[in-house]
Amino acid sequence: MAQAKKIVLAYSGGLDTSVAIKWLQDLGWDVVTLVVDVGANADLASIQDKAVQLGVARAYAVDARAHFAERFLMPALKADALYEGVYPLASALSRPLIAELLVAVAHREGATAVAHGCTGKGNDQVRFDVAVAALDPALQVVAPVREWAFSRDQEIGYAQEHGIAVPVTAAAPYSVDVNLWGRSVEGGVLEDPAHPVPDDAWAWTADPDGSPASAQLSIRFDQGVPVALDGVPLPLPALLSELNAVAGQCGVGRLDSIENRLVGIKSREVYEAPAAVTLLAAHQALEQLVLTRDLARLKSSLASEYARLAYEGLWYTPSREALDAFMDEANQPVTGEVELALSHGRVTVVGRTAAQSLYRTELATYGSGDAFDHQSAEGFVALFGLSLRTRARVRPIEPASLEALEVQVRAVQHA
Ligand code: ARG
Repeated sequence: MAQAKKIVLAYSGGLDTSVAIKWLQDLGWDVVTLVVDVGANADLASIQDKAVQLGVARAYAVDARAHFAERFLMPALKADALYEGVYPLASALSRPLIAELLVAVAHREGATAVAHGCTGKGNDQVRFDVAVAALDPALQVVAPVREWAFSRDQEIGYAQEHGIAVPVTAAAPYSVDVNLWGRSVEGGVLEDPAHPVPDDAWAWTADPDGSPASAQLSIRFDQGVPVALDGVPLPLPALLSELNAVAGQCGVGRLDSIENRLVGIKSREVYEAPAAVTLLAAHQALEQLVLTRDLARLKSSLASEYARLAYEGLWYTPSREALDAFMDEANQPVTGEVELALSHGRVTVVGRTAAQSLYRTELATYGSGDAFDHQSAEGFVALFGLSLRTRARVRPIEPASLEALEVQVRAVQHA
């Protein structure tokens, strides 16, 4: 018998990717699975066992938490990346990493293809397919869920026929994706944008309007990267987990928005990102202290572009690499300490210090010790407004009419 062609499937242990194992095997593939730990607190060994029971040739598990935090999350933090000003990109940032590991396992296994469990309606399929193409264009990408056209009932029927355990509870109310940078929740009643987010959609955050905990916290940054919480140095995965717990208890990090997907659909997206929201606020507070006005402006104009690249799966691109070089350079002075107060879902910056702070009290003060040159301000302002004096002579601007406003005048009679 000819050797079956080999495929590496990104496996979560859930129904879709379990059915995908059998579906790919039915098509003659020799299936290898890969489960990646990006901080979802899943039991990797039992997911591996499940794959083995479904007859895969080999089941890989990779703890990629540190790699994910260092190579994907920190670049996004240095860039202050928020898609459409809201979404810190948790799911989006994990896809190129998982794609990279699929390619690495495919190379080790001599596989000719990789597979993922994404549907045809989301961003994730694009991110996987495009990342794999960028890393190894010779690899075929198979997306069973996009191809098989099963209804939910047909899928469950297929699963039962093939001895795949189907959760006994009614279909899970939401589609959830979790990693160190946040929790993404979609579907079910959330699909109605008029419907408030039900309490059961939240898992990491206390109700900010209830009586959540409050906390004082200090975060130390080294060149844009958080390195210590309350003075205690921590490796990134531990720091992020701790911050998710602490800020989550204070109700920080709940997001609810209508998002523009890459495939043209608007979707209701609910996120919990306590650590990401807290770190982005602290990082920006430190940047305010150390970046020149020009660099701050340039950097913030690139933040949305960075977020768009990450969102659209354009991670392995020269654009993202060039932006990272810029963000690394801009983050050189972002070293220091930020003090935060967390309460009722809010992050308040209460203090910040940095060795390379550009803040100068002798320039800012209205008190004694003022070193600012007031005379040069006069000359500066005259030139700054010069073009407007010229323009006013050519095309005057009429001030608001006093006749149209309610005006009270008091005249003082001098003796
Ligand atoms: N809309 C988000 C994104 O495109 C979240 C996707 C999360 N995936 C999921 N299966 N719930 O990044």
